[in-house]
Amino acid sequence: MSICYCVFADKCLVRMRIIQAINYDDLSKKAANIMAAQVLLNPCGVLGLATGSSPIGLYKELINWCKRGELDFSGVKTINLDEYVGLAPQNDQSYRYFMKTNLFDHININQKNCYVPDGLATDGVAEGKRYDAIISDMGGVDMQLLGIGLNGHIAFNEPCEWFEKGTYRVALTQSTINANARFFATIDDVPKEAYTMGAKSIMQAKKILMIISGESKAQILYDAFFGKVTPMVPASILQFHSDVTVVADEAALSIVKAKGLC
Ligand code: GLP
Repeated sequence: MSICYCVFADKCLVRMRIIQAINYDDLSKKAANIMAAQVLLNPCGVLGLATGSSPIGLYKELINWCKRGELDFSGVKTINLDEYVGLAPQNDQSYRYFMKTNLFDHININQKNCYVPDGLATDGVAEGKRYDAIISDMGGVDMQLLGIGLNGHIAFNEPCEWFEKGTYRVALTQSTINANARFFATIDDVPKEAYTMGAKSIMQAKKILMIISGESKAQILYDAFFGKVTPMVPASILQFHSDVTVVADEAALSIVKAKGLC
C-alpha cells in the first residue's frame, strides 16, 4: 500500500508540500491525480507542461482517464516549458513531437491551444517576446508541471550567475547535453541550444507540481529544496513560490530522509 503524507520543509523560506511515493508508478499516479483534479476544478484552465522521462507515466494516466471518459481536455490550454533550437515540430526528437506522441494525440484536446516554443525561430529575442505574450494572453499558467535536471535545471534554465526572467534562448551545459544524449542516436546530435521559459515565467504559475524520481536525483532534490536559493541551483527559486507540491519517490527522497527532514 502506498504511503502519502505531507512534510513542511521548515528550513525553507516558504513552506512546500512533499508527497512521498513508493516508486515511479506510484509517483505517476499521485501526480496524475493532482493534475486531473486541476482539470476537473478548472476545465478551461491553462496547464504548463514538461518533457523528459519523468512525466511519461503521469501522461499515460491522464490518457487512460480521458479514454474512459472521466477527464475532459476539450477546454484546456497548454503551454510547454521549452524546445530545442533547430528542431522542427516533425522531428522525432523535438519537444513538440514528444508532447504529440506522449499526450496530445491521445486526449480530446484542441492542439491549436497547445503551445511549444518554435525551435526553428532564428531571432531569439523575438521568439522570447512572442512566447511570453502567449502566456500573458492566456492569463498565466494555472498549474505548472516540472521535472528537474541532474544539475538542478528547471525547463532549460541552466546553473548560471543570475535568474533569467522571460522566455529566452540558452546554451545548454555539457551536463545537460550528456544527460539528454540518451534520447539521440549520438551525442553530437543533441542540440546545443534551446528556447526556455525563464524563472520569472515559471514562478508566475499559480501552482507548481514537481515530480522527482530515482536515486540519481536525491542530491539535487535536497539541494533545491533544503539548500540555499541560488541561480547555480535553478530549481531552488521554487522555495520562494507559495504553492509548490513535490511528488517524489523513495529513492529520490533518500538523502532528505536520511537527514531526518522528511
Ligand atoms: C530536460 C527538460 C526538463 C526536464 C529534464 C529532466 O532537460 N528540459 O524540463 O525536467 O530534462 O528530465 P528527466 O525527467 O528525463 O530526468
